[in-house]
Amino acid sequence: MHFQLSEEHLMIQKAARDFAQNELLPGVIDRDEHQKFPKEQVKRMGELGFLGMMVDPKYGGGGLDAISYVLAMEEISKVDSSCSVIMSVNNSLVCWGLEQYGNEEQKQKYLTRLAKGEIIGAFCLSEPEAGSDATSQRTTAIDKGDHYLLNGTKNWITNGGSASVYLVMAQTDVAKGHKGINCLIVEKGMPGFVVGNKENKLGIRASDTHSLMFTDVKVPKANRIGEDGFGFKFAMKTLSGGRIGIASQALGIASGAYELALKYSQERKAFGKEISKHQAIQFKLADMATQIDAARLLCLKAAWLKDQHKNYDMASSMAKLYASKVAMDTAVEAVQIHGGYGYVKEFHVERLMRDAKITQIYEGTSEVQKIVISRGVLNN
Ligand code: CAA
Repeated sequence: MHFQLSEEHLMIQKAARDFAQNELLPGVIDRDEHQKFPKEQVKRMGELGFLGMMVDPKYGGGGLDAISYVLAMEEISKVDSSCSVIMSVNNSLVCWGLEQYGNEEQKQKYLTRLAKGEIIGAFCLSEPEAGSDATSQRTTAIDKGDHYLLNGTKNWITNGGSASVYLVMAQTDVAKGHKGINCLIVEKGMPGFVVGNKENKLGIRASDTHSLMFTDVKVPKANRIGEDGFGFKFAMKTLSGGRIGIASQALGIASGAYELALKYSQERKAFGKEISKHQAIQFKLADMATQIDAARLLCLKAAWLKDQHKNYDMASSMAKLYASKVAMDTAVEAVQIHGGYGYVKEFHVERLMRDAKITQIYEGTSEVQKIVISRGVLNN
């Protein structure tokens, strides 16, 4: 075992850091405040290879490992979690799912453009009454021979308005329970598919989150991923990798907040000295640094297991559970260290605090992660 990043990993980390600092930081406050979708920034992420990092180069991707992905996600999330959630969904849920389980025709038609960032994708599992309880899908995909007829509503869909390709989970045969669920590739513009209003969110405000409505949408059978009834397993397997992405986002929020707090504490003076010279602040910094390091190790371990083609279900849930708590705790402490300045937008930490909360909710709440982990612990 060694803890040294390779030269290539360090280069990717630096490239992501430079991009985030030079191209995401300017304007991040304005995009957050006015909920402006980062169109130009997403285009640049595509050009730089951040939207299909792990995809085989023959399908337009970067051919990189999951460790590289964690490193890039951390750097981008330090600055702009709206951009990093767009990146995470496109990489982990859409591109990875299509590459692993799509057929050659689907990969040629959709994956190549998604991996290059020419278009972006969305992953559509959540419904008004199916969040954590994901088997309770109400959206239906009725088998009509050469096509499915899709009806229903999806909620809280990241990239909902800006995506061109949607991976939609829907129930084909209720009697079969989760074994009757399919995943269909739906294109924007298919008749009967309507994008609902954009959500006005607490955090990650520049990313676009929408509800989606499907009314008698004819989806060709050729757009089903995998065998009939594979949809729920597809969603679970894909989310397992997705959780590495969101854990890394949480890690980035935590380390971004920590770096700002550290810098501020060395500049701000109170009671005759820099506040970093007061033990009350030193103890906060010590806790933050320790927890961030532990979160990073969990993220990298889950990524390493994925790269080694070993089971990473439990490891990715552990990383997400822990890193999302560290993100929340660290961001709150970073605001506290900044005092009044932390409560206003210019100092960035209030945004990081708002962004942190979603990491404990999406791609499975903290409670969902504990279900996955406890099943792993009890081996059932
Ligand atoms: N890999 C493969 N198969 C899996 C699996 C995995 N990781 N996890 C479960 N399965 C299989 C099970 O083996 C089982 O199949 P069999 O019946 O053939 O054995 C089947 O799936 C059903 O599994 P469970 O019985 O475990 O299902 P459950 O109802 O008890 O639910 C759960 C388990 C972990 C709570 C799951 O429902 C879950 O993960 N819920 C949360 C969903 C979620 O994360 N939603 C996020 C939406 S996406 C999002 O947020 C993206 C975004 O915009 C950022």
